[in-house]
Amino acid sequence: MLRLAVLISGRGSNLMAIEQACREGTLDARIDLVIADRPATAGLAAAAERGYRCAVIDRAQLGSRELFEAALDAALRQQTLDLVVLAGFMRVLSGGFVARWAGRLVNIHPSLLPAFKGLNTHRQALAAAATEHGASVHYVTADLDGGPVIAQSAVPVLPDDDETSLSARVQAAEHKLYPAVLQWIASGRLQLTPAGPSLDARLLEHPERIPASS
Ligand code: GRF
Repeated sequence: MLRLAVLISGRGSNLMAIEQACREGTLDARIDLVIADRPATAGLAAAAERGYRCAVIDRAQLGSRELFEAALDAALRQQTLDLVVLAGFMRVLSGGFVARWAGRLVNIHPSLLPAFKGLNTHRQALAAAATEHGASVHYVTADLDGGPVIAQSAVPVLPDDDETSLSARVQAAEHKLYPAVLQWIASGRLQLTPAGPSLDARLLEHPERIPASS
């Protein structure tokens, strides 16, 4: 069983999708720790209510990224974890931190990478008049939103979409995509090799596509 730490900054809907998949047995994993980078996030309250071990590593109070990352690393190392799952975690992690967790650190980004890196991806997609948008799960490297992409789910951009409607469609896709990718890791099907992500012993030349609805 894959032992997870899930790092969040806000609502925690991806955390809850992962939690549900663990509970229902479609994901052979266990959430051993939930960490938020600020107090009073909705996701943290929901996790605490469900009895998960929670911690706040308060970036604002810690003052510097170095102190924040040292505290984060220490919290993660207090127990044995297999994978650190960034789920709406709004902090850029340094190259040093990322190197210490290389191959054991994944993120979900709300775009079809390499399109629309950074923030406000739904706004970026609308401004670019994209007809397709979506979400990507990738291994985290020092290259922001640039680590090897494992899998993506695409959704259409509809003519009367605004950021709210588009973001809701992408998030629904994320809630299926992230648990599915985590299950590949849990079952040993997916690893990060020096040549890139390998699924069923086959190097991924392109991200896998997971249908947004079925
Ligand atoms: C998701 O859209 C994720 O892709 C992005 O931040 C959002 C987090 O949402 N990185 P939630 O907190 O999981 O609801």
